[in-house]
Amino acid sequence: MRDTIRERELASHYALSPSPELAAEMHDIYARMERVVAPPDWAIYAPYVAAINALKKKRNAVILAHNYMTPEIFHGIADFVGDSLQLAIKATEVDADVIVQCGVHFMAETSKILNPPKTVLIPDMEAGCSLAESITAEGVAEMRARYPGAPVVTYVNTTAEVKAASDICCTSSNAAQIVAAMDGDTVIMTPDKYLAQNVAKEVPGKRVVWWEGSCIVHERYTAKDIQDFREWNPGTQIITHPECTPEVVAEADFSGSTSGILDYVHREKPRKAMLVTECSMASNIADELPEVEFVGPCNMCPYMKKITLEKVLWALHSMSGAVEVEPQVAAKARIAVERMIDLSRKFAS
Ligand code: 13P
Ligand code: SF4
Repeated sequence: MRDTIRERELASHYALSPSPELAAEMHDIYARMERVVAPPDWAIYAPYVAAINALKKKRNAVILAHNYMTPEIFHGIADFVGDSLQLAIKATEVDADVIVQCGVHFMAETSKILNPPKTVLIPDMEAGCSLAESITAEGVAEMRARYPGAPVVTYVNTTAEVKAASDICCTSSNAAQIVAAMDGDTVIMTPDKYLAQNVAKEVPGKRVVWWEGSCIVHERYTAKDIQDFREWNPGTQIITHPECTPEVVAEADFSGSTSGILDYVHREKPRKAMLVTECSMASNIADELPEVEFVGPCNMCPYMKKITLEKVLWALHSMSGAVEVEPQVAAKARIAVERMIDLSRKFAS
């Protein structure tokens, strides 16, 4: 459907013109993002936020939003926010009929795999991921043939078919523990070569072999960028995601999953921090932590940024963007995802 038709259809059902009055009425929500969202922009967003929050109730829907969502989504309409592992666990706990996944397609697929009877909507089917696109189930079979008997630990940033072909999933927050828990000397990690190389350093007792995938957002940074940045802005804490190269991670004060990064900044409250990850991460905590100055480049994930308020409203209005996974594939993929969740719960207890 052309965007203009969508816009017209939405405008005929909801009051969506910019409204400084509504923006003022919804000040409690705006207070969570006023350092990063200008008042005229909030006047544009507020009618969408109001419409989505009302429609959510009508549809008995919840919005699960990844930490990379923009502030108006993260603070305005999300019921739960988190990293990939937290969102997967939350998907097993929600009571609603409909889950709207504000994130990328593999996250919505994971929610569907864990909740076959629920309707899971993704506001833009094109919200992909360079890692998920880098490998197929045949690629997993190729790795198994190359390393017979080695278990396959697959990052959740993959399609359901790839998960179904794997022994267990992992996320950036549990990858090292999961690899350490595998039987045998050799562990296959797919598809992120940098996550695998970072994990290999943390688990020296295992021989970790990997697929050649990478994240287009995190691979852009080099160790030289970080060194130059430290020289230019001394005293800055450098905080990375493990999808960065091992050389970049080696330059960091801390490396962790997106929620690990947020927890670290909340705990340490550095005077200046550079988050070597997606740009919305800093925006989403800027108001909670006014004492921290976020510095450094703004690197956007083009896939995550496909999710907008208008598309969320459209998905809920038209109930379009339903994610389906072939039941046999879903059943096998569920085993890999649930094994990860069970082990993560065991590690946490
Ligand atoms: P997290 O699991 O750390 O949220 O990472 C997901 C992701 O896509 C990072 O690029
Ligand atoms: Fe995929 Fe990288 Fe975007 Fe995360 S940031 S969704 S890994 S492309």
